[in-house]
Amino acid sequence: MSTISIIGSGGMAAAIGGLAAGAGYTVEIVSRDASKAQALADEIGSNATTGIFGALPAGDIVILAVPYSAVLDVVKQYGEQLAGKLIVDITNPVGPDLKSLVTPEGNSGTREIVKVAPATAQVVKAFNSQFSHVLAASAVKQHPLDVFIAGDDAQAKARIAAFVERLGMRPMDAGALDMACALEHVCLLSLGLVTHSVMHTRFSIGVSLLG
Ligand SMILES: NC(=O)c1ccc[n+]([C@@H]2O[C@H](COP(=O)([O-])OP(=O)(O)OC[C@H]3O[C@@H](n4cnc5c(N)ncnc54)[C@H](OP(=O)(O)O)[C@@H]3O)[C@@H](O)[C@H]2O)c1
Repeated sequence: MSTISIIGSGGMAAAIGGLAAGAGYTVEIVSRDASKAQALADEIGSNATTGIFGALPAGDIVILAVPYSAVLDVVKQYGEQLAGKLIVDITNPVGPDLKSLVTPEGNSGTREIVKVAPATAQVVKAFNSQFSHVLAASAVKQHPLDVFIAGDDAQAKARIAAFVERLGMRPMDAGALDMACALEHVCLLSLGLVTHSVMHTRFSIGVSLLG
């Protein structure tokens, strides 16, 4: 099984990293704070290693698990170390009001990442529409969570879809990278539901197939 690199050591890194390690992937955790990367790798267990922040990631798939406010700088800092990698953007560029996006109207954070990533990297949006604790608990759920995916490269999306399936979730291809903007709005929808109707965060947004 291949290696997945995750940049970041917070809630999403723990959720995706834990699932990936449980599915048999080697998970490389990379953090600007090496002690936090080590702590998460220790928590994940035997399939987890740590990498050096800014150095060549061990995995061909690199998950950006840092806040949107930091992600462009992080990608710039990595520069050519991300050449040829399949970058997974899980970020939500949500503004401080939790009701709007900080990206220009009609554009996505993912597109901004594409602008600063090496030309040979593929960038796919995925995992942004589920809460970290919901993802982390997904293995015990009877109904697999839906993970929406957007990207321009069919092969890259297929690789992420296979990864999602391996983690025990259902990949849902939402279309080309232009759809990343819609997926970021799904996060706003979740936050709106938390505030106005559901009143908690123990839910997932997915597709009910009616036949
Ligand atoms: N939480 C969710 O339910 C959820 C759901 C979907 C998508 N997302 C997205 O997933 C991403 C990660 O979320 P999270 O909940 O895992 O966040 P988190 O728990 O706050 O962890 C963020 C990670 O990013 C690192 N980081 C912050 N600023 C950085 C910088 N300038 N340079 C390098 N690393 C930096 C942090 O390092 P330090 O510990 O050193 O600060 C930490 O390891 C975000 O973009 C978020 O929008 C989150």
